[in-house]
Amino acid sequence: MTRITFERLASDGKARTGVIRTPRGDIRTPAFMPVGTAATVKAMMPDSVAATGADILLGNTYHLMLRPTAERVARLGGLHKFMNWSGPILTDSGGFQVMSLADLRKLTERGVTFKSHIDGSRHEITPERSMEIQALLGSDIVMCFDECPALPASRDRIAESMELSMRWARRSRDAFGDRPGHALFGIQQGGLERDLRQQSAEALCEIGFDGYAVGGLAVGEGQEAMFDCLDYAPDQLPEDRPRYLMGVGKPDDIVGAVARGIDMMDCVLPSRSGRTGQVFTRLGVVNIKNGRHADDPRPLDESCGCPACRNYSRAYLHHVFRSQEIISSMLLTWHNLHYYQDIMAGMRAAVAEGRFAAWQADFHATRAQGDI
Ligand code: GUN
Ligand code: ZN
Repeated sequence: MTRITFERLASDGKARTGVIRTPRGDIRTPAFMPVGTAATVKAMMPDSVAATGADILLGNTYHLMLRPTAERVARLGGLHKFMNWSGPILTDSGGFQVMSLADLRKLTERGVTFKSHIDGSRHEITPERSMEIQALLGSDIVMCFDECPALPASRDRIAESMELSMRWARRSRDAFGDRPGHALFGIQQGGLERDLRQQSAEALCEIGFDGYAVGGLAVGEGQEAMFDCLDYAPDQLPEDRPRYLMGVGKPDDIVGAVARGIDMMDCVLPSRSGRTGQVFTRLGVVNIKNGRHADDPRPLDESCGCPACRNYSRAYLHHVFRSQEIISSMLLTWHNLHYYQDIMAGMRAAVAEGRFAAWQADFHATRAQGDI
């Protein structure tokens, strides 16, 4: 089977555009990956997710190992078949979700033990088990098993945690083995400490990965601190491999990350916000539950080509949200994902044509402060 490759097509400043080629299809970068935690992008059919412009989805080891279990997914033909998504899937490795979701967590050199947030049952994930689960799922892009403290944390805690994650990265690499057609990404840690990030990058490069993630950000540090870190962290990682910023973010976070050399991102924000009535548009954030939309015949965004904007008024979207109709989650999620993919397509074209700075200036100038 052919290997997963990354072809850089153009750069503009630090921003890059390219394509990751996989046996399941191409991923145009910069890429935004919708989150399909529990084998579904909530409220969306797979064809609809593809119609928004997504090339790749993210799945979660933690959730799927608990329910329906990786072994069951494997028996049923793998995650792609199970959820009817034929494109590439990247899976996160579980440690980060254990730390934020599970009960009674215990971290040792070997791995992490925890109680399920679903039924209280006890489980263990080690680097080896995480690689096994992600292989059973049939993930195309597998993430190393890592760990990271919430910020702020002491420098000692950040250093210890990063060093543990680098030992786990080595074990992940060894356990993953050689699987043509599947990629393994390392995850840089080190908090907001430049020298720890550098040490982490060097440790990962020595092991050797198909791509490199910037982890441990968007964990409470705020946008300014995150951007300060992204001013150097991507540069510490190999130029010829995809760089993935994990768990980010709001539209302006994504644009700022791409401007600093990031190629891939994922976040629950567009899909989760779709279910809570927060809508991202070119002009800013719309809170559809607000009473001032009740009589508004205009679409969410005049310039958006998604079904929510082409076929429905703000008044209708307000009504179905207030009535807790299922179509509300469907339409708002579709719109938000479509808007995120429009941003990505806009950035890819701008980088290819050498006008990224102008695109970025226009992106910021168009957005209102506060609600619209
Ligand atoms: N998702 C968001 N941040 C992280 C991280 O640092 N590690 C992992 N594995 N997943 C993440
Ligand atoms: Zn729309």
